[in-house]
Amino acid sequence: MKIIHTIAELRAWRKTVGTVAFVPTMGSLHAGHMSLIHAAKAAAEHTVVSIFVNRLQFGQGEDFDRYPRTLENDAALIAEQGGVDVIFAPDEKELYPNVIQQYQVTPPAIAEELCGAFRPGHFRGVATVVTKLFNIVEADIACFGKKDFQQLFVIQSMVKDLNMNIQILPVDTGRAEDGLALSSRNAFLTADQRNEAPRLYHHLSRMKAAIEAGDRDYSKLAVQAVTDLRVRGWHDIDYVDTRNAETLKAASNTDHKLVILIAARIGSTRLIDNIEVNLD
Ligand code: PAF
Repeated sequence: MKIIHTIAELRAWRKTVGTVAFVPTMGSLHAGHMSLIHAAKAAAEHTVVSIFVNRLQFGQGEDFDRYPRTLENDAALIAEQGGVDVIFAPDEKELYPNVIQQYQVTPPAIAEELCGAFRPGHFRGVATVVTKLFNIVEADIACFGKKDFQQLFVIQSMVKDLNMNIQILPVDTGRAEDGLALSSRNAFLTADQRNEAPRLYHHLSRMKAAIEAGDRDYSKLAVQAVTDLRVRGWHDIDYVDTRNAETLKAASNTDHKLVILIAARIGSTRLIDNIEVNLD
């Protein structure tokens, strides 16, 4: 396994190999990333994992500075799993040689809803860095986790809209035994917060069961979840929202493919999760 830090070296390597599956990450890898890597290894002859904490997708006052940077650990974890050809770990100057990235990819208005409403510019930062990485790695396939459902939606629609020559492979959310979605931000939780954190998934599961049983009063179900979360010390509950899973627009009573999404803070940590509901 090579660790490559420059675009030139990555491009030189890329010219020498066949099909490539790509897993873009911001590092601080956990078992959730390992399932993305596992899916990538099965999808192409070679696998590239990028590790880059992308300043452009963090808003002011967000956790860019405290975001864990653990390249050595990450490389050891990847080596242990085996089968990855390249870790691409550019520094900021390599990816953003201009102080301001002059050309940026602006996603459509749906990216200003849900997480986008609370993190202005976030998905433009994601779409821009992912486009740059796609242009550098020139992979055949890229794997994205369903935990970041709106991010996956933005990337899929960007690839389609801009005719990018890459296939997006969605990968199911990895979960701890108690249901908590695996996330690098879980590392910030205290022991008590960690015990409480699976409640997001419990509420999603309860809402899904209610909808499957015929309850289509999405707002009432959301209010019930929000009320309970508040009582239990959650705050800044950004949204509990049921959407059409294919368009991410507000769900109607006749939609069959739904996704329930949630974002809330416990202590100083913002967690997100979602669950799909298929009524076919
Ligand atoms: O999901 C992430 O870790 C990041 O948003 C990504 C896709 C690596 C872009 O920085």
